Amino acid sequence: MNGMDQNREKWGSKIGFVFAAAGSAIGLGNIWKFPYIAGENGGASFVLVYLICIAIIGLPVLIAEILLGRTTQRNPVGAFYKLSQSKFWASVGGLGVIAGFMILSFYAIIAGWAIGYIVEAISGNFYLWPEPAAAAQHFRDLVINPYWILGYFAFFMILTMIIVFAGIQKGIERASKIMMPILFILLIILMIRGLTLEGAGEGLDFLWNPDWSKISASTILLALGHAFFTLSLGMGAMLTYGSYMSDDDSVPVAGLQIVFLDTVMALIAGMAIFTAVFAVGLDPAAGPGLIFHTLPGVFVKMPGGYIFSILFFILLSIAALTSSISLLEVVVSYFVDERKWKRHNAAIFLGIIIFLLGVPSALSFNILSDFKIFNLNFFDIVDFIASNILLPLGGLLISVFVAWIWGFDKVIPNLRKGAERLFDNYPWLLGFWKFFLKFLSPVLIFFVFLHSIGLLEKILNLFAQ
Ligand code: TRP
Repeated sequence: MNGMDQNREKWGSKIGFVFAAAGSAIGLGNIWKFPYIAGENGGASFVLVYLICIAIIGLPVLIAEILLGRTTQRNPVGAFYKLSQSKFWASVGGLGVIAGFMILSFYAIIAGWAIGYIVEAISGNFYLWPEPAAAAQHFRDLVINPYWILGYFAFFMILTMIIVFAGIQKGIERASKIMMPILFILLIILMIRGLTLEGAGEGLDFLWNPDWSKISASTILLALGHAFFTLSLGMGAMLTYGSYMSDDDSVPVAGLQIVFLDTVMALIAGMAIFTAVFAVGLDPAAGPGLIFHTLPGVFVKMPGGYIFSILFFILLSIAALTSSISLLEVVVSYFVDERKWKRHNAAIFLGIIIFLLGVPSALSFNILSDFKIFNLNFFDIVDFIASNILLPLGGLLISVFVAWIWGFDKVIPNLRKGAERLFDNYPWLLGFWKFFLKFLSPVLIFFVFLHSIGLLEKILNLFAQ
């Protein structure tokens, strides 16, 4: 595990890294997942807890992860090994690579739906099924067709592979620099459309007026888990992107910018979606189908809905693409650094493997829908293991590694590089970061983790009955 990195690529500019990392963070998590879990968990109260989790756990762990990458200039496995010379810690990086395989194999399926829905929107199909029940049925009719699911899944994987194939500057950085501003503008347009709908106020109330009775232990754990997912934390994606960064860029400032952009985009998406959902009197707690079942019906009822429906699904696809490339890049960087593969071969070969790995998940919406273990289908199992077990475990181990194994005496001089002025002016920031990373985040993540195991237990009980 020794890498020689004269030829290792780097970001072309500071802002290139921030765009790419924000592109990784902002994705289906913000536009598809955040609104529906906020909708199911009381709206504003959930949003508040989520914001606190982002600030006190998300940001410190994000900084730690980027720093691990920048210091070592390696993929997750190489990074842990370089700093610890320990096989155990290298295998922690290995868990991240495995999580990358798994997450992309189901993420790209949902992203495929988004692309399929661009076609639905353009063809005007939403006007044939304007009522939510009918729209939901139309959705089920689409996913029950294995060719529809597999076709768009494959198409989306090919787009992801092309960008990663092209490399850091010419692929990931350039794609993010073009797509992120488009995403931002489209979301703002959609938010303005939402805010100007009659009855939009109710949606805003839902998003901003907390109902404290809705906050429970499980809300907190859910919010923390989502903080990880939405910031792409816990499996080395941010570490890998950080590994293409140079020492004169400030890690804490970049971290803050990424968190800021990701949070603003989630809130804007929330405003765009809830104003629309309330304006036409739909249920905000519709679950994972929220955007696919209900939004087509929302669009057909709003003036200009045809155009806005097309814009929306384009936006969703772009957001998913800038995230999926970060997942494939983790896997590719491992095989390039440690196994000496050529980037081009790695991008194509690993992309195909991930597609094949995803086939059973895609088919669990149709042919394999009866195949269940512990009452979960294949798609749910992969999502559960990766998102609820591997990510929190990864986040916990990253915090412990930086705070306790790598050690602050070595960490701090590295963190200061590129951020000297910030820490000279605000020396207390370092103290906060150390405290959060050393105690707060390991303890809190541990509880999230227990919660995941608790879920597992419930499922096992169900099975035992
Ligand atoms: N953060 C992305 C989203 O919100 C998804 C994502 C990309 C991700 N890379 C990741 C999640 C790495 C966890 C780990 O959609």
